[in-house]
Amino acid sequence: MSARSYTFTHAISRRPSKSIIDGLRAIDIGTPDLALFEAHHADYVAALRSTGAKVELLEADEAYPDSVFIEDAALCLPKGAVVMRPGAPSRLGEAAVLAPTLASYYSDIRTIDAPDFIEGGDILTTEREILVGTSARTTTGGIEALRRATADWGYTVREVHTPEGVLHFKTDCSLLDEETILSTERLSVSGCFEGYKVLHTAEGEEACANAIRFNELVIMPAGFPKTAEMLDKAGYNLRLVGNTEAAKLDGGMSCLSLRFSPPVA
Ligand code: GLY
Repeated sequence: MSARSYTFTHAISRRPSKSIIDGLRAIDIGTPDLALFEAHHADYVAALRSTGAKVELLEADEAYPDSVFIEDAALCLPKGAVVMRPGAPSRLGEAAVLAPTLASYYSDIRTIDAPDFIEGGDILTTEREILVGTSARTTTGGIEALRRATADWGYTVREVHTPEGVLHFKTDCSLLDEETILSTERLSVSGCFEGYKVLHTAEGEEACANAIRFNELVIMPAGFPKTAEMLDKAGYNLRLVGNTEAAKLDGGMSCLSLRFSPPVA
């Protein structure tokens, strides 16, 4: 049986908008260049499609500067989808905008309701469980709401913690296969990956911890040669994609898509 945590027939992605220059960021390291962002995004979508997956590419949404980071608005699982409740006020409306698209793939869609908050970037779905990091965007109440929403789909939700000053839990980690996590040391030192095999990003290359396993590929940001070499030697099939513009807004590979296999009707 193929791994449900990284074997996908579909993905949804959204084009970056002109308003991306107003996107949220922890530290201002420069304004994203839209043309370059679009080029990186096209490479990213091509990488997803190269595995045979169908990728629905949504038009840019100028009303929401961060809406290119579509992962934060939903969690897509084999039996149904959960519409998130983003903790950033400027992003709260993104979830409702996405709901009709999800409805074209899923008949069972659940929601996280007020007053709780949770963003997809804080959620790492592995083969055996869903890990969710509390963060500035995700509350313990949001995690509890996700636990209730997914319990009858056969998932265990485990609360973990995003390191202080890090935007999302998955800013610092990625699933590589059923048993293996790519992580920064500052995250794994918490012990949250006990029972998994952990591969660490190379020193000084922590910014590439946000990669994705998508079918046969590990898609990771370009520009991190030591970590790329380590993963290559470990036998992963790497695809490097430019991420300099998304990174200016604390975004990475996972943020740019929802990855899933919709249930057969
Ligand atoms: N710029 C991505 C975020 O802060 O949500």
